[in-house]
Amino acid sequence: MIYCDYAATNGVVPEAVRAAVADYLTHPGNPGRGTHARAMDAARIVLEARFALADFFDCADPSRVVFTSGATQSLNTAIRGLVKPGDHVVTTFYEHNSVLRPLYQLEKTGVSLSITDGSPEQIAAAMRPNTCAVVMTHASNVTGDVLDIRAAGEIAHAHGALLIVDAAQTAGVLPISMEADGIDVLCFAGHKSMLGVQGVGGMAVGEGVEIAPLMVGGSGIRSFDHEHPRDLPEGLEAGTQNVPGIAALLAAQGVIAQRGLANIAAHERALADRVERQICGAQGVRMYHGNGARVGIVSFTVEDIDNAVVADVLANDYGIAARAGAHCAPLVHEHFGTASMVRLSFGWDNTTADADACARAVCEIAEGKR
Ligand code: ALA
Repeated sequence: MIYCDYAATNGVVPEAVRAAVADYLTHPGNPGRGTHARAMDAARIVLEARFALADFFDCADPSRVVFTSGATQSLNTAIRGLVKPGDHVVTTFYEHNSVLRPLYQLEKTGVSLSITDGSPEQIAAAMRPNTCAVVMTHASNVTGDVLDIRAAGEIAHAHGALLIVDAAQTAGVLPISMEADGIDVLCFAGHKSMLGVQGVGGMAVGEGVEIAPLMVGGSGIRSFDHEHPRDLPEGLEAGTQNVPGIAALLAAQGVIAQRGLANIAAHERALADRVERQICGAQGVRMYHGNGARVGIVSFTVEDIDNAVVADVLANDYGIAARAGAHCAPLVHEHFGTASMVRLSFGWDNTTADADACARAVCEIAEGKR
């Protein structure tokens, strides 16, 4: 199979990551829940991962790197834990439902929303005196367009608001600096370009940002208090952590460092560009993205052929795994006047031969040869 669905989940878990998970599972323990060797070893893995990720995201305080089940939990925690009735939030039409749905729920409690195209101009124009946050994706999971989070951070801070970033599609591909990009809460998935496994992700929380927890429970500290502790990381990590997943994230950091972020981004983008050059102009094929920076995603439709059928033909006749649908990002489709698209998304393990095979297949489908 030619796996081209890296935006959904990483298709090739590196050997070092699989080995780290397998090794941890030979001697599991519960971090922060004891002082015996197993508990301490698990705690060491979690601590090392916090330090590695703090370094990776340029987060000044490793204790403010919090582990969650993934980007969705991180975004729900940040949005629900920071936005209050009466607040206004600025967001973009590129957002995934993991941003939109928590915001739509909050709208019912008296929160107001402005939906922009993600440009600094529209974000600046949308700011109001009661804007508490700009919540935006770093790159669209549908079109791959990269948004200017640094400019958004400057605008947000000039208005006394926070910048909450959904980095599900960019963490592990593009450099992200909490400090330089002015990010107050960075939310990331562990199972995509961070090269970990499904069921783990996290958030990095800027200094002075106090998020009310989504869940409370065991924390391993201050057990007699009725209130869950507010100190980070425990304040946002109720319950036993996904230590196998965290071990994967830690090992994956070594792999990402070895490959180099610049090489990863250039490789994935080059494959997307290569497909685009070849399918551009094919009969009835329309592609969807802006002209600026983008990650390794190509989304398209073929006139008069259902997108689900295109994806099925790609899978069944060509052995190509692509994803058709709305990709949980409804407003992008409202913007482009589509209900769905076919998405090819590339990763480190794809080759130029894969890209050429994709382009050939799309052209043949469009020309009615399949
Ligand atoms: N949000 C993931 C995607 O874009 C699952 O496919």
